[in-house]
Amino acid sequence: RVVAVIMVGGPTKGTRFRPLSLNIPKPLFPLAGQPMVHHPISACKKIPNLAQIFLIGFYDEREFALYVSSISNELRVPVRYLREDKPHGSAGGLYNFRDLIMEDSPSHIFLLNCDVCCSFPLPEMLESHRRYGGMGTILVIKVSAESANQFGELVADPATNELLHYTEKPETFVSDRINCGVYIFTPDIFTAIQGVSTQRKDRANLRRLSSFDAIDSATSRNLPADFVRLDQDILSPLAGKKQFYTYESMDFWEQIKTPGMSLKCSALYLAQFRFTSPHLLASGDGTKSAAISGDVYIHPSAKVHPTAKIGPNVSISANARIGAGARLISCIILDDVEIKENAVVIHAIVGWKSSIGRWSRVQLLPSSSNIAAVMKVGHFLQYHVA
Ligand code: GDD
Repeated sequence: RVVAVIMVGGPTKGTRFRPLSLNIPKPLFPLAGQPMVHHPISACKKIPNLAQIFLIGFYDEREFALYVSSISNELRVPVRYLREDKPHGSAGGLYNFRDLIMEDSPSHIFLLNCDVCCSFPLPEMLESHRRYGGMGTILVIKVSAESANQFGELVADPATNELLHYTEKPETFVSDRINCGVYIFTPDIFTAIQGVSTQRKDRANLRRLSSFDAIDSATSRNLPADFVRLDQDILSPLAGKKQFYTYESMDFWEQIKTPGMSLKCSALYLAQFRFTSPHLLASGDGTKSAAISGDVYIHPSAKVHPTAKIGPNVSISANARIGAGARLISCIILDDVEIKENAVVIHAIVGWKSSIGRWSRVQLLPSSSNIAAVMKVGHFLQYHVA
């Protein structure tokens, strides 16, 4: 049996995703009309012998309760939200719930970051991992040399795919192969995490005994014993020890840290729907429906006037109303928004309950980081450029 764990973080993380993450936990923000976390969850459904999916985070349970129960019913796989009392780091969070995760004695554990957008080739990773052996396999991708330093850079043996060297967000260039934040482990990962905690405790005791504090004060060894990071504390020291292997993706991959990235990732997931869930894409067939161009998602409760022109890359959430002659291109329209007659919205996110007046135009030039976000604050509309 296999289980999957998705790390969703908590309210003190995802600050670059503001203002959008002020209203809703970032993992529930819609991409291609589905909550961000829905995409890795539905990818898990393809894993053979999947017993359970866990979401680990430090958001309040209530924020995830509705979503978790509806997705469990829909997928017919138990999905559980496990709340940490405080952040324990990406490996510490996993270790914190080891008893629950190991309940069904799984042979393998998938670990996925919630804020990555990719095709999640999970069955392929499992198959490769079985061939390689070792404690874990990491999904990697080649990126441009200029952007690599925002991620964990790594070097793998071209013949065996063994992870030889790993550095998290290095200052000087190491490699254009990066860690995608998608892993498969054997239960041995818990022993490795415990090893890091024990080492930290021993060092802290030693420091107390020798009353010689200065030595480790600026390093990670001063972190609490139960705060363990997967990248710096596990992958870096265990690289080159025949414990970790890499699986290179040739498909799409992006990290979702800023509002601007959500538009790009919405486009990628909408394009993927053509193959995985074509029923979710608006067709524009029939005389009563609006003109649709390219990939568009429209929630069944949204009302779109037949003379509106929508797409490409548009997702329209629940209860939105799109008026006559409105033109929407590359945008995310959130719940209860009203776009009045002949308004134009291009490359923007229109926040919950906002209303865009007749003949108005909301537009920002496309670039990977810039995005216009219109949010309703009290009775006023605020225009953010992030
Ligand atoms: N539950 C929980 N508790 N989740 C956490 C915690 C924690 O204490 N800390 C981080 N996370 C979650 C975040 O929400 C995110 O989904 C994931 O773990 C990784 O977050 P960070 O540890 O902040 O790392 P990062 O996103 O800057 O970079 C990591 O991911 C990149 C790929 O997206 C690194 O592993 C990079 O090497 C990698 O390239």
